[in-house]
Amino acid sequence: MRRTGFPEGAGPIGIFDSGYGGLTILDRIRKNLPQYDYLYFGDNARTPYGTRSFEVVYEFTSQCVEKLFERGCHLVILACNTASAKALKTIQVNDLPRLDVNRRVLGIIRPTVESIGSLTKSRHVGILATPGTIKSMSYPMEIRKLFPDITVTGEACPIWVPLVETGEYDSEGADYFIEKHVRNLIAKDPAMDTVILGCTHYPLMLEKIRKYVSDDIRLVCQGDYVASSLQNYLQRHPEIDVKCTKGGGCRYLTTESTERFLPSASLFLKEKIKAETVAV
Ligand code: DGL
Repeated sequence: MRRTGFPEGAGPIGIFDSGYGGLTILDRIRKNLPQYDYLYFGDNARTPYGTRSFEVVYEFTSQCVEKLFERGCHLVILACNTASAKALKTIQVNDLPRLDVNRRVLGIIRPTVESIGSLTKSRHVGILATPGTIKSMSYPMEIRKLFPDITVTGEACPIWVPLVETGEYDSEGADYFIEKHVRNLIAKDPAMDTVILGCTHYPLMLEKIRKYVSDDIRLVCQGDYVASSLQNYLQRHPEIDVKCTKGGGCRYLTTESTERFLPSASLFLKEKIKAETVAV
């Protein structure tokens, strides 16, 4: 049954993450598709998602998607691997028929996986991600479907998202946790030549991660792959494209107070922004 109350007209593309991480995806999407309007929503008050159960990640993500629908979004990108791994399928199968069959919610694991086949030569790939994403086995399962010859090894990094959310990612103490997980991953399979940063927060720590990875290993950030996949999607789906407004604007929502959200978000985006607090 169709829920009433969502605005009918065209609206911005919704970009959702548990916190600041989705800003790394938003940044690449806006560079590639500057003509669209965007509405970013960070659930900063309840981050991190990566250590939470399947049920909780689904419940939180579903609530935030509904808020984005209420704000006029017809297309929402889950710019969060944990939510893509643990909530996307249930939202697509259970929520959309109940809320509005004409709206779309897309994840970011599939576009990342599609790019991997042409990036690895050794056919050994590593994934650095949250405990939730690693435990879900979403990356190995998706990679196996498309590239059964690739060996996939994962390492869960439970502390990395809190390091970003608390602004501690650039501190000396952060190096201990970054080095530990990067070395653990590579030790599990020294043949790997490609490492996916399978959490949208991690590109914010890219320089630190690079310090512990040898030059012959490629670090893959997801943003550009997600952006070109979105571009392709909008070309293939004119019925969705027409529901996305094109004014080149971007607005920001957070479940945290704006006093906490704005300084970090502005720092990561390298521009001054305005935001609004939303209750879920
Ligand atoms: N940026 C989210 C991801 O890509 C982080 C999830 C979390 O809040 O732990 O998985």
